[in-house]
Amino acid sequence: MSLKEEKMEDSEELKLAPKSISPRSLHKGKNMLAVASGKGGVGKTWFSITLAHALSSLRQKTLLFDGDLGLANIDIQLGLMVKNDLGSVVSGALSLNQVVYHYDKGNFDIIAGRSGSAGLASMPVGRLQILGEDLNLLATNYDKIILDMGAGVEKPVRILSGMAEKILVVCTDEPTSLTDAYAFIKIMTLQYPKSKINLVINQANSLREGQRTYETLLKACNNFLKINPPLLGIIRRDTRVRDSIRNQTSIINRYPASEAAEDVIAIAKRLLADGQFNN
Ligand SMILES: Nc1ncnc2c1ncn2[C@@H]1O[C@H](COP(=O)(O)OP(=O)(O)OP(=O)(O)O)[C@@H](O)[C@H]1O
Ligand SMILES: [Mg+2]
Repeated sequence: MSLKEEKMEDSEELKLAPKSISPRSLHKGKNMLAVASGKGGVGKTWFSITLAHALSSLRQKTLLFDGDLGLANIDIQLGLMVKNDLGSVVSGALSLNQVVYHYDKGNFDIIAGRSGSAGLASMPVGRLQILGEDLNLLATNYDKIILDMGAGVEKPVRILSGMAEKILVVCTDEPTSLTDAYAFIKIMTLQYPKSKINLVINQANSLREGQRTYETLLKACNNFLKINPPLLGIIRRDTRVRDSIRNQTSIINRYPASEAAEDVIAIAKRLLADGQFNN
């Protein structure tokens, strides 16, 4: 399959995309990774949780932040009953560090979102920037922060992703996933030219097929955007992912030797080998 630029130019998101605006740029969180995709349902939340668990098992003090401001669901995938979440921070009742929840079974920290809260999804830019700055401050207590982003290319997604040192774009072999990932990369590249984008191919039928999916996306990025985002890793499609989610537990606890868990652990190791996340 090839990706056609003209077709993408027609997409609503691209028409709405600002050419080169830069909202008051936030300090980049040196240890922050944003997990984004454009298209929904490709596995961002599951991957973010599993990556946080993998990093903590590699002795990284890790915080997982639910940046899906409209449909937060890290707590659902892990079956958590958190007392306080981002909703209380946005309403001004609590500060960010007061809503940190320690997930014992994975030995990492979580800031849960609040699902279905239009207030969070439509938070004004100024509030988002304050939240971003608070997060930057909190980030100094951690080795790694993972931001699980919502689908789409709306402003909150762009602003939070733009804060991260590196953006992991998750993509599957579905054509709509590829076009949406491309649209996301294009918008981020225009708006935040310094973004470091890495690609993660999820739900691959095999490593070879995953490689082909990567090459399709890479070619579009290279031809039309003149960038070559590296492949961070391929995660195989694995029935144990669904099983773990249904049982509201991390796959690393339930099926540590499954292909999908192994693939994410390999990605975590690669990130650490990259040192300062700098490629
Ligand atoms: N490697 C995989 N193998 C098999 N199924 C997978 C894999 N990764 C994700 N899935 C499936 O994809 C579904 C969606 O995952 P998830 O909720 O993490 O996606 P998402 O990108 O966060 O969605 P949203 O955009 O709505 O936030 C999961 O319920 C799971 O069944
Ligand atoms: Mg999600």
